[in-house]
Amino acid sequence: MNSTHLSKRLSQVYDFVVSYAAKPCRLADIGTDHAYLPCALALEGEVTFAVAGDVAAGPLASAKEEVSSQGLEDKISVRLGDGLTVVEASDRINTVTICGMGGRLMRDILEAGVGRLEVEHTLVLQANVGNYALRTWLDEAGYEILDEAVMQEGKHFYEVIACVERPGKVASLSDKERLMGPKQLQKQGEAFRLMWADEAQALRYVQASLQQAKQPNLERLQEIQQQLTYIEEELGK
Ligand SMILES: C[S@@+](CC[C@H](N)C(=O)[O-])C[C@H]1O[C@@H](n2cnc3c(N)ncnc32)[C@H](O)[C@@H]1O
Repeated sequence: MNSTHLSKRLSQVYDFVVSYAAKPCRLADIGTDHAYLPCALALEGEVTFAVAGDVAAGPLASAKEEVSSQGLEDKISVRLGDGLTVVEASDRINTVTICGMGGRLMRDILEAGVGRLEVEHTLVLQANVGNYALRTWLDEAGYEILDEAVMQEGKHFYEVIACVERPGKVASLSDKERLMGPKQLQKQGEAFRLMWADEAQALRYVQASLQQAKQPNLERLQEIQQQLTYIEEELGK
C-alpha cells in the first residue's frame, strides 16, 4: 500500500470523504501513520488542506517522509499530538478521518476534540472493534449517519461509517441499529451477512464458556443473548 494504491479499507474511507465531505474539504486525519490517506486525497485534489496527526514519533516520521516524497508539504501539515489537539481553529477543519483504532478510543478522541472543528463537520470513521460504543456516542452527540460499508480483507471485516454533525439532533437509533448499523441493516450486503455470521459464532463460543463458569457473569450473558437475537433476526431474513 502507498498513497497511489490504497488498501480496500482505506479506499472505502477515501470514497466516503469524496462523497460526503463539504467542499472545499479541509481534512484532519488522526492516527495518520504513513499519511497515505491524506496524501491520496490531496494528490487527486479532493482536499485543499489537511492536518495529518499522530501521537507517536515513529509514525510521524513516516508521515513526514511520505508527504515530502509526494511533494505535498504546501497542502499537508504533519503534526505530533494526541487526537484532535493537533487541530487549531484557524485550520477550519470540516472533515475528520480516524481509521484503524478501537471504537472506544475514537469516541474519546472525538468527545475531547470536536469543539475544534467547523460546525456541521463530516466524520469518516473506521474502527477495528467497538462500533457499538462509537455509534452510541455519535447518536447521542447529535450526528446523523449518512452511509456505512462493510468490507472483508483476508480474514478481517471492517466497517466504515460516514456521518455529519447536526446540531440539536436528538438520539434516534435503536439498540439494534447501534450494534449493526442503520444503513447496513437496510443494505444487507454480502460482507455484512458474513461478518455477522462470524460474530454469532464467536458470541456462542463466549456464551458457552461463561455458562460453564462457577459464578456466571449474568449481565454479560444477557448482553450476548440480546446480540444473538438481533443477529439471528437479521440473518434469518
Ligand atoms: C493502526 S494505525 C492506523 C493507521 C492508519 N490510520 C490506517 O488506518 O491505516 C493507528 C495509528 O494511530 C495512532 N494513534 C493511536 N492513538 C492515537 C491518539 N490518541 N492520537 C493520535 N494518534 C493516535 C498510532 O500511533 C498509529 O500510528
